[in-house]
Amino acid sequence: MTPYEKLLLENKAWAKEQVEEDPDFFKRLSSLQTPEFLWIGCSDSRVPADKITGTQPGEIFVHRNIANMVVHTDVNLLSVLDFAVNHLKVKHVIVCGHYGCGGIKAAMSSRDYKPVLNMWLRNIKDVYHIYQAELNSIKDEEQKTDRLVELNVVEQVTHLAQTSIIQRAWQTENGPHLHGWVYGLKDGIIKPVLEMTPGSYIDPLYAYEDL
Ligand code: CO
Repeated sequence: MTPYEKLLLENKAWAKEQVEEDPDFFKRLSSLQTPEFLWIGCSDSRVPADKITGTQPGEIFVHRNIANMVVHTDVNLLSVLDFAVNHLKVKHVIVCGHYGCGGIKAAMSSRDYKPVLNMWLRNIKDVYHIYQAELNSIKDEEQKTDRLVELNVVEQVTHLAQTSIIQRAWQTENGPHLHGWVYGLKDGIIKPVLEMTPGSYIDPLYAYEDL
């Protein structure tokens, strides 16, 4: 059996198990999804949103990219955010980074990853640039990486609050709450680093008045 055939076989076993536990499982989920959470996480295979939060299918709407970035020109991310906020009416948007993130490490190096990856990593380099005084003072490379992981999550949550999508929802729906979390690959524990609720300070440069 090839590795991908094993996936298909495991899938059959999983589907059977779900129906045994809850006969209406697929009937219920196929007609409706009402997730309370939008998860913006890293693509890293070691950080599966549902497994580490103990959530079931239907509970978390997920977007993942390298280093859990919120880039204001990313049509993919913005479409997911718009749909989650305005149609699914999620109550919480979580940006979850993780210590030891390869994307963060890559952005801290001087290596040329060639055009497309360089373009993506540039967004992380810009976060480093904002906090370079603090980051340059950290001598230990692992500690420096992990601090940038935390600061990057803070920046990406801030980027969410700077979108008209979130600002309009805060005004009309009094939600969602924004959360910045960091997952530890070594202990499996999530550390909250930032929370923004409706009314939180937004730099006037990015605040829309005529929503
Ligand atoms: Co990562």
